Amino acid sequence: MDVIVLSNPLSVHLLSILRDEKTGTKEFRRTLAALSSIIFIKSSEDIDTEVIKVKTPFEYAMCAQLSEKIVFVPILRAGLAMLSNILEIFPDAIVEHIGIYRDEKTLKPEPYYSSLDDKVENSVVFILDPMLATGGTISYAVEKIAQYKPARIKILSVVAAPEGIERVSKTVDKMDIDVKLCVSAIDRTLNQNGYIIPGLGDAGDRAFGTQ
Ligand code: URA
Repeated sequence: MDVIVLSNPLSVHLLSILRDEKTGTKEFRRTLAALSSIIFIKSSEDIDTEVIKVKTPFEYAMCAQLSEKIVFVPILRAGLAMLSNILEIFPDAIVEHIGIYRDEKTLKPEPYYSSLDDKVENSVVFILDPMLATGGTISYAVEKIAQYKPARIKILSVVAAPEGIERVSKTVDKMDIDVKLCVSAIDRTLNQNGYIIPGLGDAGDRAFGTQ
């Protein structure tokens, strides 16, 4: 699996705000949405376009528009906090949802909801999940989405743990599909509760004020 790590100074700046325990809910959610836009833009550099002719107020200009179908799949619940700005950038996308919670004891992903359907076929699917921790949730999501035959899958995360990247890579390597991870930082490790260290805490709790 190809892994792209952002080095843009803006993304580094925004990630520092997210990591800071003093950052409150409002600022955390706004910053997470802003950083998600940068990750999305970086990850979308290979989307196909087609030439179109557009009339400006002065004359015709040769322009381009996306020629691939785009599907965003936020993983409930934290992935929802990545969606708002991304959807503003590309409002024509379809949004499907997958609900997965992590069993606190086993750390295993427990799926409870999926809206995936045939609209995923031949589309470029962006999985939104801010924390790639053990990799269980994202591996499950990739396998589930692959059943609907997308053109490509892109995983957008804010922070990833090396253990999680390895697990997702193993899943992806067994599949015949192009999957890329775009992330703003790869951290040191996981703690015994499956949290990323140093990380930024529980992204869902911090984005939605439930900590
Ligand atoms: N989920 C989070 O929100 N944070 C982590 O560090 C790991 C999983």
